[in-house]
Amino acid sequence: MKRVVVLTGAGISAESGLKTFRDSDGLWEGYDIEEVATPQAWQRNPAMVQDFYNMRRKSVLEAEPNAAHYALVRLQEKYDVVIITQNIDDLHERAGSKNVVHLHGIITRSQSSLNSNLTYPIEGWQLGMNEVCELGSPLRPHVVWFGEAVPMIETAAQICGTADVFMLVGTSLAVYPAAGLVDFVPNVVPKYIVDPNIPYVRGGNSIIKVEHKATIGVRKVVDELMNAG
Ligand code: APR
Repeated sequence: MKRVVVLTGAGISAESGLKTFRDSDGLWEGYDIEEVATPQAWQRNPAMVQDFYNMRRKSVLEAEPNAAHYALVRLQEKYDVVIITQNIDDLHERAGSKNVVHLHGIITRSQSSLNSNLTYPIEGWQLGMNEVCELGSPLRPHVVWFGEAVPMIETAAQICGTADVFMLVGTSLAVYPAAGLVDFVPNVVPKYIVDPNIPYVRGGNSIIKVEHKATIGVRKVVDELMNAG
C-alpha cells in the first residue's frame, strides 16, 4: 500500500467554523500570543490562559468535521494514510481518520503542569483552576505553547521521509519546527498544496498547487488519488 502523508493546519477546520490564526479575522488578531500561549503567560496569569483554552475547547466541541476531513477518511480505503496535524481540535479523529499525529497537542485533554507525559481526558469544555494531576499539581491544557519543545517532531519527520505522496492543507507554514517537515519529504514525491493562499514550499516540479478552500481542494486531490493506478 502506498503511503499518503498529510500535514494539516488551521485552514482545514476553517469551514467547520473554527478560526485560523493568521488570516484577517484570525485568533492572533484578537489575542496576544505572549498573553495566552506561552509558559510565561501560564506563570503570570493562569486563569486567563485557562479561559482562553476553555473557549477554544467549547468551539471545538460545538464544531463538526467538514467534507475535507471526511475526504481524507475515504483515502484510507486505498492508501496507508498518516495525518500529521498542527491542529489541537479532534475533527480528524471524529471524522474517522485512524492514524493522526498531533504535533501541538489536543485540546480535549489536560496535562500535568509538572510532568507533560501525564495527560487526562477532559469532561465537557471547562478545565477548572482547582483541578490537579495525580502529583497534586494544577492541570493545564495538553497543548504545545510557543517556546516549548514539540515532542512529536522527530516521529513526524521520520513519517515525512516515508511518504509516497504528500499533501499540505490549510497551513501558512509560519511556525517552526512544523514548517520544516516538508523538507523531510523526498524530492521526487508529489506534493499537493491545498490552500486558497498557497504558501511557499521548496520542491520545483514536485509541487502541485490546488488553490481552493479545503472542502473543494481536498476532495479534488482525493478523487484524483482514488482514481490513480
Ligand atoms: N481551506 C484551506 N485553507 C484555508 C482556508 C480554507 N477554508 N481558510 C484559510 N486557509 C489557510 C490560509 O490561507 C492559511 O494559509 O489556512 C492557513 C492558516 O494559517 P495559520 O492561521 O497560520 O494556521 P496554521 O498554519 O495552522 O498555524 C500554525 O500556529 O499559532 C499557531 O499553534 C498554532 O498550530 C498553529 C500554528
